[in-house]
Amino acid sequence: MRINTHLQQLKGSYLFTEIANRTRAYQQAHPEANVLRLGIGDVTLPLPQVIVEAMHRAVDELSCADTFRGYGPEDGYSWLRQAVIDHDYTPRGIRLTPDEVFISDGAGSDLGNLSELFDNTNSVAILEPSYPAYVDTSRMAGRDIIWLPCLAKNNFYPELPSEKADIIYLCFPNNPTGTVLTRKELARWVDYARTNHSIILFDAAYEAFVEDPEVPHSIYEIEGAEEVAIEIRSFSKTAGFTAVRCGYTVVPKATGLQAMWSRRQCTKFNGASYISQRGAMATYTPEGQAGIKANLNYYKQTARILSDGLRAMGYEVWGGANAPYIWCRVPQGFDSWSFFDRLLNTCQIVCTPGAGFGPSGEGFVRFSAFSKREDVEEALRRMKKL
Ligand code: MLT
Repeated sequence: MRINTHLQQLKGSYLFTEIANRTRAYQQAHPEANVLRLGIGDVTLPLPQVIVEAMHRAVDELSCADTFRGYGPEDGYSWLRQAVIDHDYTPRGIRLTPDEVFISDGAGSDLGNLSELFDNTNSVAILEPSYPAYVDTSRMAGRDIIWLPCLAKNNFYPELPSEKADIIYLCFPNNPTGTVLTRKELARWVDYARTNHSIILFDAAYEAFVEDPEVPHSIYEIEGAEEVAIEIRSFSKTAGFTAVRCGYTVVPKATGLQAMWSRRQCTKFNGASYISQRGAMATYTPEGQAGIKANLNYYKQTARILSDGLRAMGYEVWGGANAPYIWCRVPQGFDSWSFFDRLLNTCQIVCTPGAGFGPSGEGFVRFSAFSKREDVEEALRRMKKL
């Protein structure tokens, strides 16, 4: 037996596990502390009632012989795949068919699993700083990584690879910097992929935060993108499903990968649970739409309070508009982790150290706006005393 040495060589622990461990250790040592969690992008508002009721009804169906059901279709129920198209794509002029939409247990799993579609000798271009799963997944497969540093001097705007990249991970609105691309800017990436026969794995988990009409919600708003892009979406950040686990991935037939992905899923994935898919379906009802919009508006407002408050204190910040993350330069004399420790130990605030997203994240921390309003206001009060 030979183990996967690529996986064995991954350094340290996963970023969010490391933060959770440090936070737990602090809380255990200071049980009285009111620790404010602005680190991981995890939702805090309860699910809208109509979604909860839909999931309750689904449980009731499973408890009754007449309505009980077992395994569902591996790629998702047709009613949910159709609803995704009707609500998320057709209104934006995007033409897709239900068999190009694959319901999943969340974007995180698919972002990792999609890697299996491609030979390990492919090169991977990754914006840096980036969501750590892209890097870890590519390393687990032993792929060569082409780093595309995004720097403060360019407002974290990504430059196209100067060499040929076979696979490209893009995430817009960006995690962690909050950067967004206009349609014209995203079109450059689609053109690059078409010219170089690359595939773009487009993580659109935060599209619901887009308010600027120049900024696309989907990569398929760009002409020709259906030939070169797979789009990964999640109900987690849009509808508060981080615990429920449901998302979807669009693999257009024009990529030539749709049948392969279905084949892979049928073997390795038994489908998202009926209960979570019923919950997801309820997000598309008028009450569901109103409920998730209210929650999103709350987080958008929280993002504004946080970014305005930090700016007023003299911090240099990016993001927070069209995105739920605020990217903040640490004060002189600190690096990412020492400022993380300072905030935790002095203010009982948890953030995410920018260095955890890659070397270009050094000197920054990320705050999440998926937090309770009162926690954000209290965090700003505490930071004023720093
Ligand atoms: C984060 O960056 O905080 C992540 O989005 C958390 C996750 O969803 O995995």
